[in-house]
Amino acid sequence: MGIRENIAELRQKFETELSAVRDSDAVEKIRVAYLGKKGSVTELLKGLKDLSGAEKKEFGQMINLLKREVDEKITAQVEAIRKAEEDRLVNSAEQYDVTLPAETDFGSYHPITLVQRELEEIFASMGFTVEDYKEIVTDYECFEALNIPKHHPARDMQDTYYLDNGQLLKTHTSAAQNAIMRKYGAPLRAIFPGRCFRNESTDASHENTFFQMEGIMIDKDISISNLIYFMKTMLSKVFRQDVNVRLRPGFFPFVEPGFELDISCHICGGKGCSTCHGSGWIELCPCGMIHPNVLRDGGIDPEAYTGFAFGLGLTRLAMMRYGLKDIRDLNSGNLKALAQFNHE
Ligand code: FA5
Repeated sequence: MGIRENIAELRQKFETELSAVRDSDAVEKIRVAYLGKKGSVTELLKGLKDLSGAEKKEFGQMINLLKREVDEKITAQVEAIRKAEEDRLVNSAEQYDVTLPAETDFGSYHPITLVQRELEEIFASMGFTVEDYKEIVTDYECFEALNIPKHHPARDMQDTYYLDNGQLLKTHTSAAQNAIMRKYGAPLRAIFPGRCFRNESTDASHENTFFQMEGIMIDKDISISNLIYFMKTMLSKVFRQDVNVRLRPGFFPFVEPGFELDISCHICGGKGCSTCHGSGWIELCPCGMIHPNVLRDGGIDPEAYTGFAFGLGLTRLAMMRYGLKDIRDLNSGNLKALAQFNHE
């Protein structure tokens, strides 16, 4: 068979093979079979070197034309396959009526967010600024500036997660006290809600990640009476009724005197249940008069100013407010449960 017939036969074979393929892998195989290093068209081109000058020119043009045709047809086939796949996907998509009203789910706020916003409004109406603070803090901020030197036993109550650089995930919102005192000086009224972390065994009222809201008020002649007034006002507004509270002495190195403010358990009405560990009371808001050392470290003269501080358990307050028995439900990410709290 002459070269001319060879070319014609190859063209015919190529077109028959190409028209039969339906996927891009098969097209690629054909491309390699014809145009690859050892492909049929490439071999024909290699054979040109054995021909005379006139034949080389004539057949060279014919083979190059075939090469171009093969190349273009392969490109067109790849595109046709891609388009067919796109059409298949588009046509298989579910049909919908664009005139129907949209089903929009706006989601819902997390119960902790709801309670936090409510508290922010209450305290803002009493002249408090709302401050945001970091979650990763230094040992100084979390402990030393709060009168808790290294090796103080109070640290045992707040084990946390330490980073390689010595910083730590804050165990309480009190970690922002020093920075906020330094930022504003006295007189000062501020609340600072935040997420806290502790290495904790979890149960119905303990999580390793929970929210607190710290508050400080510093001015001339601030006393425990001011502290009690603000706590009572806040709780009666949140619960929209008088709430049973009890104050008992509590030790925190950064307050003197210090108290634990408990509220009657709203889950069992004070009778005792797993949430309140049978006591009928929920430990909600430790507080006290800011220790002179803490004021001094914050750049405030303890001879001229006094102040109170409280560290409200925001997550626990949300539980009491909405009657949630188990704190772990709040971090569970169970949207069905959380969606019950509508858009207030
Ligand atoms: C503190 O964290 C102090 N910083 C509070 C404070 C501030 C005292 C200012 C005095 C002055 P305590 O570790 O008790 O204290 O935590 C405060 C509140 O956070 C608790 O009453 C509780 O409501 C909440 N809380 C503490 N640990 C957890 C936990 N693991 N899970 C959920 N809530 C918690």
